[in-house]
Amino acid sequence: MKVLAIESSCDDTSAAVVVNGNKVLSNIVSGQDEIHNCFGGVVPELASRSHLKAVQPVVATALEKANVQLEEIDLIAATQGPGLSGSLLVGFSYAKALSQVTSIPFVGVDHMAGHILSILLEVQDVKFPFISLIASGGTTSIFYVENETTFTHIGRTRDDAAGEAFDKVAKVLGLPYPGGPHISKLAEKGNPKAIKFPRAWLDKDGFDFSFSGLKTSVLNHHNKLTQKAELTADESFDLCASFQDAVADVLVTKTIMAAKKFNMGSIVLGGGVSANGYLRNKFKEQCTVEKLKFLVPHPLLCTDNGAMIAVAGYHKYSQSGADTLDLDVYSRSQLG
Ligand code: KG4
Repeated sequence: MKVLAIESSCDDTSAAVVVNGNKVLSNIVSGQDEIHNCFGGVVPELASRSHLKAVQPVVATALEKANVQLEEIDLIAATQGPGLSGSLLVGFSYAKALSQVTSIPFVGVDHMAGHILSILLEVQDVKFPFISLIASGGTTSIFYVENETTFTHIGRTRDDAAGEAFDKVAKVLGLPYPGGPHISKLAEKGNPKAIKFPRAWLDKDGFDFSFSGLKTSVLNHHNKLTQKAELTADESFDLCASFQDAVADVLVTKTIMAAKKFNMGSIVLGGGVSANGYLRNKFKEQCTVEKLKFLVPHPLLCTDNGAMIAVAGYHKYSQSGADTLDLDVYSRSQLG
């Protein structure tokens, strides 16, 4: 079955053609970083207007690169939510219109389900159930994943998402948006133990996260240093490395705690923050110690992309068939 999928939940317009939920024929991503860069974050109205311009050429390129005609597509999938409503509506309405004129079945797909299942694009024998950590700019959540369509949300951030914390700290340091990759690059030259930033463990046995206290602590530290003089290169390397270590520490510890509590043999990562090399290594090390299998997709499949929506759409359609075209988007997570 050939699935054409469209993703437009935030600031990336993406379309992909994927066969049988695992073979990627094309996965085109058109970003908007240069539009939002000077604002230090995504401006919703600019994002939706940019999706309007990009969606048609991105879909055409995905079909062309896959060497597939629209008539050969068996299913059209689009991100239904969570995300920015204006952005979601562009890709979602475009996909529904394509379905209407071609009579190809349509499914709306949860963005988080896409992130959770993106590992299926690379690893054929993923064993269910598993624990999944999804850490991105919009969310930081832990899921108990029973199978390809059944997910239970067991933990979530109570304030900022991990990626949002990376982006806000980057903004203070004058780094471009999105800040995660820039912080990670500077952190390579710093000492992760140089500054003892706080970790929010919240309830001892719970799986919720909080990153706003850490973010404030980094800002206070930065303000203290810059009262006397500009930050030196070494000071900013250490600040980035210590901040990154604090985020990774909480993400790794809580996810492993969840795997142990639910007696799971494996942990699967997804979402933009899981492209972070330091976090990936810390997970790898700790999972080896705890005898847990650790799986994370290629960094390009961690950030928003259409192929992950195609996988989730394929499984949703196989389980429950097509959606009707009166389906609406949602901005808050409805998974589990
Ligand atoms: O999953 P994603 O592409 O979009 C959302 O659904 O949010 O994630 C984007 C987020 C941004 O906050 C970005 O700063 C962060 O992922 N990110 C990273 C890295 N690459 C992207 N954070 C830390 N280290 C990275 N290498």
